[in-house]
Amino acid sequence: MSAIRQSNKTRHIFAAFLRNCQAARPLLLFPLTICIAILTLMKASPKPAPRKPNPAAELAGSITARLDRPVVLVGLMGSGKSAVGRRTAKKLGIGFKDSDQLIVKAAGISIAEIFELAGEVKFREMERKTLGNLALASPQMIATGGGAFCQDATAELLLHHTLTIWLKASPATLLSRVRNTKTRPLLHNGDPLATLTRLDEQRAPFYQKAHIHLDTDGLSTYKAMTALLHALDTHLPRQ
Ligand code: S3P
Repeated sequence: MSAIRQSNKTRHIFAAFLRNCQAARPLLLFPLTICIAILTLMKASPKPAPRKPNPAAELAGSITARLDRPVVLVGLMGSGKSAVGRRTAKKLGIGFKDSDQLIVKAAGISIAEIFELAGEVKFREMERKTLGNLALASPQMIATGGGAFCQDATAELLLHHTLTIWLKASPATLLSRVRNTKTRPLLHNGDPLATLTRLDEQRAPFYQKAHIHLDTDGLSTYKAMTALLHALDTHLPRQ
Protein backbone atom coordinates (compact mmCIF):
# COMPACT_ATOMS: atom_id res chain seq x y z
CA MET A 1 0.00 0.00 0.00
CA SER A 2 2.73 2.39 0.93
CA ALA A 3 4.71 1.38 -2.21
CA ILE A 4 1.70 2.32 -4.40
CA ARG A 5 1.38 5.66 -2.60
CA GLN A 6 5.06 6.28 -3.16
CA SER A 7 4.82 5.57 -6.91
CA ASN A 8 1.78 7.89 -7.24
CA LYS A 9 3.74 10.65 -5.53
CA THR A 10 6.68 10.18 -7.97
CA ARG A 11 4.29 10.29 -10.90
CA HIS A 12 2.82 13.52 -9.59
CA ILE A 13 6.24 15.12 -9.18
CA PHE A 14 7.27 14.03 -12.67
CA ALA A 15 4.06 15.39 -14.20
CA ALA A 16 4.57 18.68 -12.36
CA PHE A 17 8.14 18.85 -13.67
CA LEU A 18 6.96 18.34 -17.27
CA ARG A 19 4.30 21.01 -16.85
CA ASN A 20 6.94 23.47 -15.55
CA CYS A 21 9.24 22.70 -18.46
CA GLN A 22 6.44 23.42 -20.88
CA ALA A 23 5.68 26.68 -19.11
CA ALA A 24 9.33 27.71 -19.16
CA ARG A 25 9.81 26.89 -22.86
CA PRO A 26 8.73 30.34 -24.19
CA LEU A 27 11.06 31.99 -21.70
CA LEU A 28 14.02 29.95 -22.99
CA LEU A 29 13.04 30.32 -26.63
CA PHE A 30 12.73 34.13 -26.53
CA PRO A 31 16.42 35.00 -25.93
CA LEU A 32 17.46 32.24 -28.33
CA THR A 33 15.25 33.71 -31.07
CA ILE A 34 16.71 37.20 -30.44
CA CYS A 35 20.29 35.84 -30.76
CA ILE A 36 19.49 34.07 -34.02
CA ALA A 37 17.81 37.23 -35.37
CA ILE A 38 20.85 39.40 -34.50
CA LEU A 39 23.25 36.93 -36.10
CA THR A 40 21.11 36.78 -39.25
CA LEU A 41 20.94 40.57 -39.44
CA MET A 42 24.71 40.89 -38.97
CA LYS A 43 25.28 38.46 -41.80
CA ALA A 44 22.78 40.16 -44.06
CA SER A 45 23.86 43.79 -43.36
CA PRO A 46 25.93 45.23 -46.21
CA LYS A 47 29.71 45.37 -45.69
CA PRO A 48 31.16 48.91 -45.33
CA ALA A 49 31.71 50.29 -48.83
CA PRO A 50 35.36 50.08 -49.91
CA ARG A 51 37.11 53.46 -49.74
CA LYS A 52 36.83 55.43 -52.97
CA PRO A 53 40.24 56.08 -54.51
CA ASN A 54 41.28 59.74 -54.19
CA PRO A 55 44.01 60.29 -56.82
CA ALA A 56 44.68 63.93 -55.78
CA ALA A 57 45.24 62.97 -52.13
CA GLU A 58 47.36 59.99 -53.15
CA LEU A 59 49.50 62.19 -55.39
CA ALA A 60 49.98 64.75 -52.61
CA GLY A 61 50.84 62.04 -50.08
CA SER A 62 53.37 60.46 -52.41
CA ILE A 63 55.06 63.83 -53.05
CA THR A 64 55.23 64.73 -49.35
CA ALA A 65 56.76 61.34 -48.55
CA ARG A 66 59.49 61.94 -51.12
CA LEU A 67 60.31 65.54 -50.14
CA ASP A 68 63.61 65.72 -48.31
CA ARG A 69 64.19 69.48 -48.56
CA PRO A 70 62.26 72.75 -48.74
CA VAL A 71 60.59 73.72 -52.02
CA VAL A 72 61.41 77.30 -53.00
CA LEU A 73 59.37 79.29 -55.50
CA VAL A 74 61.23 81.91 -57.52
CA GLY A 75 60.09 84.26 -60.26
CA LEU A 76 58.94 87.80 -60.87
CA MET A 77 56.39 89.78 -58.89
CA GLY A 78 52.92 88.45 -59.70
CA SER A 79 54.10 85.01 -60.76
CA GLY A 80 52.01 83.43 -58.00
CA LYS A 81 54.80 82.47 -55.59
CA SER A 82 52.70 83.31 -52.53
CA ALA A 83 49.21 82.38 -53.76
CA VAL A 84 50.19 79.11 -55.47
CA GLY A 85 52.77 78.31 -52.80
CA ARG A 86 50.33 78.67 -49.91
CA ARG A 87 47.69 76.52 -51.61
CA THR A 88 50.16 73.82 -52.66
CA ALA A 89 51.65 73.67 -49.17
CA LYS A 90 48.18 73.12 -47.74
CA LYS A 91 47.53 70.31 -50.21
CA LEU A 92 50.85 68.68 -49.31
CA GLY A 93 50.30 69.15 -45.58
CA ILE A 94 53.57 71.05 -45.15
CA GLY A 95 54.33 74.52 -43.78
CA PHE A 96 54.38 77.67 -45.86
CA LYS A 97 56.70 80.67 -45.40
CA ASP A 98 56.91 83.91 -47.34
CA SER A 99 60.37 85.48 -47.04
CA ASP A 100 59.03 89.02 -47.63
CA GLN A 101 56.53 88.60 -44.80
CA LEU A 102 59.23 87.34 -42.44
CA ILE A 103 61.45 90.31 -43.29
CA VAL A 104 58.60 92.77 -42.71
CA LYS A 105 57.81 91.11 -39.37
CA ALA A 106 61.43 91.19 -38.24
CA ALA A 107 62.01 94.79 -39.36
CA GLY A 108 58.69 96.10 -38.10
CA ILE A 109 58.30 98.23 -41.23
CA SER A 110 57.08 97.59 -44.78
CA ILE A 111 59.32 96.55 -47.68
CA ALA A 112 58.74 99.94 -49.32
CA GLU A 113 59.97 101.57 -46.08
CA ILE A 114 63.03 99.29 -45.89
CA PHE A 115 63.94 100.28 -49.47
CA GLU A 116 63.39 103.95 -48.63
CA LEU A 117 65.12 104.06 -45.25
CA ALA A 118 67.87 101.44 -45.56
CA GLY A 119 68.18 100.90 -49.33
CA GLU A 120 67.87 97.85 -51.57
CA VAL A 121 71.34 96.51 -50.62
CA LYS A 122 70.26 96.24 -46.97
CA PHE A 123 67.00 94.57 -48.05
CA ARG A 124 68.91 91.97 -50.10
CA GLU A 125 71.11 91.22 -47.09
CA MET A 126 68.05 90.65 -44.90
CA GLU A 127 66.58 88.49 -47.65
CA ARG A 128 69.70 86.31 -47.87
CA LYS A 129 69.79 85.79 -44.09
CA THR A 130 66.09 84.95 -43.94
CA LEU A 131 66.30 82.48 -46.82
CA GLY A 132 69.51 81.03 -45.41
CA ASN A 133 67.62 80.02 -42.26
CA LEU A 134 64.61 78.71 -44.16
CA ALA A 135 66.72 76.68 -46.60
CA LEU A 136 68.15 74.60 -43.78
CA ALA A 137 64.79 73.88 -42.16
CA SER A 138 62.62 70.81 -42.68
CA PRO A 139 60.66 70.34 -45.94
CA GLN A 140 58.26 73.23 -46.39
CA MET A 141 57.09 75.58 -49.15
CA ILE A 142 58.87 78.93 -49.38
CA ALA A 143 57.86 81.93 -51.48
CA THR A 144 60.76 84.29 -52.20
CA GLY A 145 60.72 87.94 -53.20
CA GLY A 146 61.14 88.38 -56.96
CA GLY A 147 64.76 89.55 -56.79
CA ALA A 148 66.09 87.01 -54.28
CA PHE A 149 67.20 84.37 -56.77
CA CYS A 150 69.06 87.01 -58.79
CA GLN A 151 71.53 87.52 -55.95
CA ASP A 152 74.40 85.08 -56.48
CA ALA A 153 74.94 84.19 -52.81
CA THR A 154 71.22 83.63 -52.22
CA ALA A 155 70.80 81.61 -55.43
CA GLU A 156 73.79 79.46 -54.54
CA LEU A 157 72.47 78.51 -51.13
CA LEU A 158 68.97 77.83 -52.46
CA LEU A 159 70.27 75.69 -55.34
CA HIS A 160 72.37 73.71 -52.92
CA HIS A 161 69.92 73.11 -50.08
CA THR A 162 66.45 73.32 -51.62
CA LEU A 163 64.36 72.37 -54.64
CA THR A 164 63.86 75.57 -56.62
CA ILE A 165 60.92 76.15 -58.96
CA TRP A 166 60.62 79.06 -61.39
CA LEU A 167 57.03 80.17 -61.85
CA LYS A 168 57.07 81.79 -65.30
CA ALA A 169 54.50 84.15 -66.81
CA SER A 170 54.45 86.91 -69.41
CA PRO A 171 54.83 90.53 -68.20
CA ALA A 172 51.19 91.25 -69.14
CA THR A 173 49.99 88.30 -67.04
CA LEU A 174 52.25 89.33 -64.17
CA LEU A 175 50.82 92.85 -64.17
CA SER A 176 47.25 91.55 -64.18
CA ARG A 177 48.08 89.48 -61.10
CA VAL A 178 49.95 92.17 -59.14
CA ARG A 179 47.05 93.60 -57.19
CA ASN A 180 48.99 96.05 -55.10
CA THR A 181 51.86 97.91 -56.75
CA LYS A 182 52.13 100.21 -53.70
CA THR A 183 53.82 97.48 -51.65
CA ARG A 184 56.34 96.83 -54.46
CA PRO A 185 58.86 99.66 -54.55
CA LEU A 186 60.31 98.49 -57.87
CA LEU A 187 56.97 99.20 -59.53
CA HIS A 188 56.72 102.73 -58.14
CA ASN A 189 57.40 104.33 -61.48
CA GLY A 190 54.80 105.38 -63.98
CA ASP A 191 54.93 102.26 -66.17
CA PRO A 192 54.80 98.95 -64.28
CA LEU A 193 54.38 96.93 -67.51
CA ALA A 194 57.59 98.38 -68.95
CA THR A 195 59.36 97.68 -65.65
CA LEU A 196 58.15 94.07 -65.56
CA THR A 197 59.20 93.59 -69.21
CA ARG A 198 62.68 94.92 -68.43
CA LEU A 199 63.00 92.85 -65.24
CA ASP A 200 61.83 89.76 -67.16
CA GLU A 201 64.66 90.20 -69.68
CA GLN A 202 67.27 90.96 -67.02
CA ARG A 203 66.27 88.19 -64.63
CA ALA A 204 65.41 85.30 -66.94
CA PRO A 205 69.07 84.09 -67.04
CA PHE A 206 69.03 83.83 -63.22
CA TYR A 207 65.64 82.11 -62.99
CA GLN A 208 66.79 79.66 -65.70
CA LYS A 209 69.07 78.09 -63.10
CA ALA A 210 66.09 76.83 -61.05
CA HIS A 211 65.66 73.04 -60.90
CA ILE A 212 62.12 73.10 -62.31
CA HIS A 213 60.50 75.59 -64.74
CA LEU A 214 56.73 75.95 -64.75
CA ASP A 215 54.78 78.12 -67.17
CA THR A 216 51.75 79.54 -65.38
CA ASP A 217 50.44 81.80 -68.16
CA GLY A 218 46.67 81.46 -68.41
CA LEU A 219 46.47 79.23 -65.33
CA SER A 220 44.25 79.95 -62.34
CA THR A 221 45.80 79.51 -58.89
CA TYR A 222 44.17 76.07 -58.65
CA LYS A 223 45.46 74.96 -62.05
CA ALA A 224 48.93 76.30 -61.30
CA MET A 225 48.88 74.32 -58.05
CA THR A 226 47.90 71.16 -59.93
CA ALA A 227 50.67 71.76 -62.49
CA LEU A 228 53.13 72.32 -59.65
CA LEU A 229 52.12 69.05 -57.98
CA HIS A 230 52.62 67.14 -61.24
CA ALA A 231 55.98 68.83 -61.81
CA LEU A 232 57.09 67.81 -58.32
CA ASP A 233 55.83 64.27 -58.85
CA THR A 234 57.82 63.97 -62.09
CA HIS A 235 60.96 65.53 -60.64
CA LEU A 236 61.23 63.71 -57.31
CA PRO A 237 62.82 60.27 -57.48
CA ARG A 238 60.51 57.31 -56.66
CA GLN A 239 61.50 55.48 -53.50
C1 S3P B 1 61.01 92.40 -55.42
C2 S3P B 1 59.86 91.67 -55.30
C3 S3P B 1 59.02 91.76 -54.12
C4 S3P B 1 59.77 92.24 -52.91
C5 S3P B 1 60.50 93.48 -53.22
C6 S3P B 1 61.49 93.32 -54.36
C7 S3P B 1 61.84 92.24 -56.65
O1 S3P B 1 58.45 90.47 -53.82
O2 S3P B 1 60.67 91.28 -52.48
O3 S3P B 1 59.56 94.45 -53.52
O4 S3P B 1 63.01 92.62 -56.60
O5 S3P B 1 61.33 91.71 -57.63
P1 S3P B 1 57.32 89.75 -54.72
O6 S3P B 1 58.00 89.08 -55.85
O7 S3P B 1 56.70 88.76 -53.79
O8 S3P B 1 56.37 90.78 -55.15
